[in-house]
Amino acid sequence: MLPRHIGYIMDGNGRWAESRGLPRSAGYAEGLKAMLRVLARTEERGVAAASVYAFSSENFARPSEEISAVLRTVASWNSSYDGCWKVTYMGERDLFPDNVVKSIREVEERTRDNTGLRLNIALGYGGRRDILLAAQKAAKKGVLTQSSLENELSSAGLPPLDAVVRSGGEKRLSGFMLYEAAYAELLFTDKLWPDMTAEDVDALLAEFASRTRKFGA
Ligand code: IPE
Ligand code: IPE
Ligand code: MG
Repeated sequence: MLPRHIGYIMDGNGRWAESRGLPRSAGYAEGLKAMLRVLARTEERGVAAASVYAFSSENFARPSEEISAVLRTVASWNSSYDGCWKVTYMGERDLFPDNVVKSIREVEERTRDNTGLRLNIALGYGGRRDILLAAQKAAKKGVLTQSSLENELSSAGLPPLDAVVRSGGEKRLSGFMLYEAAYAELLFTDKLWPDMTAEDVDALLAEFASRTRKFGA
C-alpha cells in the first residue's frame, strides 16, 4: 500500500549546517535541495499529495536573521519554480513580508492547473491555530460538525494524511497537521533533512507498507 498523502517534517537543517561549521542559512539552502529530491521520488513512486513543514508558527521565536534566511530560500524557489507540481501554501501568510506573500501568490497562480504532485507547503503554520480558525469559520456559517470543521481546515480538498515522516531524530509533531494526523502512520528517521535521499523515501514507503492500519476497528 502507498500513502495517498504524505507529510514531511523537514527537521535537522540547522544541525546539518552547524556540524559542518557553516551558517544555519546554508542548512536551509541544502534543505531545499533535499526537499526537491524527496518530493521528486515521492511523486515518481505514485504518491498523489505531499505536505511539507517549512516554518511553524512557533518558529517566529527564532532570531530574525534565521527567519529571513528561511524566507529568502522560500521566496526564491517560488519565483523560479516552473515544473508540473500544483503548489499551495497553508499558514498565516499575512505575517510574512510583502515580497514573500507575492511570491506565494504567484507560484500558486502559475501552478493552479498543473496535474503533477499536489504539493502543500506549511509556512507560518500551526496545527492548533488552524483548528481554531477552522472552528471559528464553521461556527460563523452556522453549523459546527465534523465535516463543516474539516471543510474549513487548510488541508480541505487534499486526500487524508496517511503518513507523517520526521527527519532529524526528534519524535514529535511540533504542531504539524494535528487534526489530519489522527490516523497517520508515524515514520521517523535520525537522518538530518539535508541528507535525505531518494533511497530514504523508498525505505520509508516500505516501512509504511509493512504497517497494519486498523482505524480503531
Ligand atoms: C527545521 O530545521 C526547519 C525550520 C524550522 C525552518 P531546523 O532549523 O529546526 O533544524 P535543527 O532542528 O535546528 O537542526
Ligand atoms: C518543526 O521543527 C518545524 C519545522 C520542521 C518547520 P522545529 O525544530 O521547529 O521543532 P522543535 O522545536 O524541535 O519541536
Ligand atoms: Mg529543529
